[in-house]
Amino acid sequence: MKLNPIVWLSSLAIVQANPFSKTDFSLQGFAKDNPLGVTTGGKGGRTTTVSSLPALRTALAGTDPLTVVAKGSFNLTGVTRLRIGSNKSLIGHEKGAKFFGGGMSAVNQTNIIIRNIQISYAYDNDCITLQNTTRAWIDHNEFFSDLEHGPDFYDGQVDLVRATDWVTVSWNYFHDHWKSSLVGNSDVLREVDEGHLHITYHHNYWRNIGTRGPAGRFGHQHVYNNLYRDYLYQAIHSRSDNQMLVEGNVFRGNTREAVSTYGLVIPEDSPNACVCGDYELDGFVNFGAKNDFGRAGINVTQWGNFKKAPYRYDLTRLSDVEKVIVKGAGIGKI
Ligand SMILES: *[C@@H]1O[C@H](CO)[C@@H](O)[C@H](O)[C@H]1NC(C)=O
Ligand SMILES: *[C@@H]1O[C@H](CO)[C@@H](O)[C@H](O)[C@H]1NC(C)=O
Ligand SMILES: *[C@@H]1O[C@H](CO)[C@@H](O)[C@H](O)[C@H]1NC(C)=O
Ligand SMILES: *[C@@H]1O[C@H](CO)[C@@H](O)[C@H](O)[C@H]1NC(C)=O
Ligand SMILES: *[C@@H]1O[C@H](CO)[C@@H](O)[C@H](O)[C@H]1NC(C)=O
Repeated sequence: MKLNPIVWLSSLAIVQANPFSKTDFSLQGFAKDNPLGVTTGGKGGRTTTVSSLPALRTALAGTDPLTVVAKGSFNLTGVTRLRIGSNKSLIGHEKGAKFFGGGMSAVNQTNIIIRNIQISYAYDNDCITLQNTTRAWIDHNEFFSDLEHGPDFYDGQVDLVRATDWVTVSWNYFHDHWKSSLVGNSDVLREVDEGHLHITYHHNYWRNIGTRGPAGRFGHQHVYNNLYRDYLYQAIHSRSDNQMLVEGNVFRGNTREAVSTYGLVIPEDSPNACVCGDYELDGFVNFGAKNDFGRAGINVTQWGNFKKAPYRYDLTRLSDVEKVIVKGAGIGKI
């Protein structure tokens, strides 16, 4: 296969010759390479297996290093939101743990890993919120609800807000939901967010989603090798002076806008403020290695300065992206 020359200009991207010989699920991106150190979660601590909500809550609290293996189903409907502390790995047992009706937050924490967890129908809040939290790896999870209730009945799937930094979101299966992943939750938080919100999104599978795949403000996001199928309204959205590097992504099915840098937030994303949408400053994007945008629209007003990721990473060949992600993303894969 002929490689796009841009791949070679971006010297730190290693194009995988044969992605099927072995799929490498190891940590890559900002959660690995950052000034604070590699994200290790509970490494160095004990491992505890929990199968009840009170035991889960206790295990996730505090900052001692701990690997928490969650086993079975957890009904989070109407209960106090789960809080996850620093130095924790939350790992779903075997084919994955099932959380439903609610989600979890980390606030002012550091060094968190969340893998192999299914979170569905998180009513009135995000599936996962990281607020003012550094070093996190959100990998091989599944998130879903439905689109019938509109954009605001459920909230985000993975929202990274208020100076959160150095996060990798990889190999997740996001589907049947409206607002997927927001980075920076308000256009008035420049003072708080600017200089933070370095997030890597790679090898995620997004299917039948409305908006925010992801939508970023005031930060830097590297969005590579993701698969979008029927991402209905607006997928990759950079606004409020945000910088995104977008490469090696594949769009299939029906998508109105694969990429937008318009500050104007479309009505489908923000129906409550004004029927015409909300206005804020435009964002920036750059395209690195070739993307396959399919039939989706591209709506870019300005090109930015985030042209190269500051770390080594494996880039899947564009023609292999769909197969590799459908096979490798979601729960029960690690
Ligand atoms: C989950 O908890 C809610 C609130 O207590 C309850 O109404 C619902 O029946 C529970 N669902 C399941 C499947 O246990
Ligand atoms: C755990 O997290 C805290 C931050 O809340 C940090 O200061 C501490 O060094 C960590 N402990 C270990 C053993 O990593
Ligand atoms: C997080 O830190 C902020 C600023 O120090 C503080 O106001 C807030 O109470 C903290 N939140 C939690 C949950 O610790
Ligand atoms: C983040 O947390 C640190 C301490 O944990 C605190 O000093 C800082 O003010 C917090 N920042 C925000 C934006 O909450
Ligand atoms: C670009 O986005 C703006 C704002 O959402 C919208 O008004 C415009 O129609 C879009 N243009 C194209 C070509 O999609």
